[in-house]
Amino acid sequence: MKKIQIINGPNLNMLGLREPDVYGSRSFDDYLTELRKQYPDVEISYFQSNHEGDLIDCIQTVGISADGIVLNAGAYTHTSVALHDALRSVPAPAVEVHISNVHQREEFRHHSLISAACRGVICGFGLDSYRLAIEALIH
Ligand code: DQA
Repeated sequence: MKKIQIINGPNLNMLGLREPDVYGSRSFDDYLTELRKQYPDVEISYFQSNHEGDLIDCIQTVGISADGIVLNAGAYTHTSVALHDALRSVPAPAVEVHISNVHQREEFRHHSLISAACRGVICGFGLDSYRLAIEALIH
């Protein structure tokens, strides 16, 4: 059984409430329930934190045993050298995910410090971005 770890960064605990015009009105817990049903043969674990260090601890811990990491680092995407380094320090391949199409938004969202440490990037497909990342990791 493949083990996939989804990691959500800051403010993504607010999905459903936060800027619904950008991120939709569905909570992540609700989406996760559906995702797990769609992939009964994949062990999908989930971690969310608003704290950079906690995200790094999670990558270091699961990055040894997981078959893949799906990471939406939220705003840390655009600022965190430490997350880049954490991804590089573990063997598990990571897919960077964004719900919104960051390239259609403010210029400060156009650059990612973590993309170069990831296997690939998926953005702009709403919550379905997470499913597409899982597809990429299991195939
Ligand atoms: C986001 C895009 C980021 O720029 C933003 O800071 C987020 C969410 C997305 O999923 O579209 O928090 O990662």
